[in-house]
Amino acid sequence: MMEIGNRKTDHINICINENVTPGYCYWDDIKLIHEALPEIDMSEIDTSVQLFGKRLEYPFIITAITGGFSGAIKINENLAEACANLGIGMGVGSQRASLEGNEKKSFEIIKEYDLPLVIANVGAPQLIKQRDKTAFTAEMIDEAIEMVDADVLAVHLNFLQELVQPEGDTRAKGCYDRVREICREHRVLAKETGCGISRSTAERLKGAGIIGIDVAGMGGTSFSAVEMYRAQRAGDFSRQRIGETFFDWGIPAPVSVLWANVGIPIIASGGIRNGLHVAKALSLGASCTGAANVVLKEATLSANAVEERIQDIMSELKTAMMLTGAKDVRQMTSREKIITGKCKEWVQRCE
Ligand SMILES: Cc1cc2nc3c(=O)[nH]c(=O)nc-3n(C[C@H](O)[C@H](O)[C@H](O)COP(=O)(O)O)c2cc1C
Repeated sequence: MMEIGNRKTDHINICINENVTPGYCYWDDIKLIHEALPEIDMSEIDTSVQLFGKRLEYPFIITAITGGFSGAIKINENLAEACANLGIGMGVGSQRASLEGNEKKSFEIIKEYDLPLVIANVGAPQLIKQRDKTAFTAEMIDEAIEMVDADVLAVHLNFLQELVQPEGDTRAKGCYDRVREICREHRVLAKETGCGISRSTAERLKGAGIIGIDVAGMGGTSFSAVEMYRAQRAGDFSRQRIGETFFDWGIPAPVSVLWANVGIPIIASGGIRNGLHVAKALSLGASCTGAANVVLKEATLSANAVEERIQDIMSELKTAMMLTGAKDVRQMTSREKIITGKCKEWVQRCE
């Protein structure tokens, strides 16, 4: 219990205090076209969106961050209160620790808030047997969903993190079959954790029966970077070097939004830091956007701080919508864009 709390606190502190994102901002490679004569009033702009049958006031959710230790109670409460006030969705962090018998209140607390969309969270590696650990049972999956009264279950794909952290779960064979099995019983969102999802993987996941994809592409929080700092502090130079080598591993988030679009809703995430990034992600075809790091510091302070941060981002989104002549989110998704820089190279080479 103590160790889990320490690891999760480390993740939060490192993400707040250290540079955990690659230097290059891939969202800057997407350029929207300015509309000098929009013929829309700012007050008319409708930012609402439907996602998984739920109405969100903005095309933005807080993606999985934390839970499973007492220090996370206030963080999740702050996030839930802000998301409920704003009318947006919220994901919780991995529920593994709680499913294995540790602290639960940090997850259960969010049931006290009227959230339009709640996303539970388990890791794909925990769906299969790992060395000395048994696989999550069907009952444990049910429990994860009930713990937060979730509308959707996110199965996170985090093999980079598992490979660079000490004692990570490094078996992957059988995850696909387990995801397919869970999809028969539940509404499942496949979610990366910073490395993006390719076209072929998106197609396989769709075949398994998932209802959406959160790309969590490269360019935002890098768990390889997080583990690099943890290893550095522990004086483990080999792990530090692995973390450094894979710091910017993955498919850039905007590229993954394009590639993973296989006809089911896409949540664009990975380095979303402002409302212009949100607008750009929508223009690439995302149904919604999501972020974790951008509200992390605020989440440790107060619900009000989280709410204000998101409100600023949504004001920027509305500004971008007006300046591109998009009256609503549907129009924003069909806006013209130009893909430049490294993203252009990725898109040209592989599609
Ligand atoms: C401190 C922290 C903890 C996270 N924990 C989880 C987790 O438990 N499960 C998960 O699916 N994603 C987790 N993530 C990943 C985020 O949900 C998101 O996919 C990723 O950070 C990319 O978004 P960002 O660039 O906005 O941070 C975590 C992110 C952060 C910053």
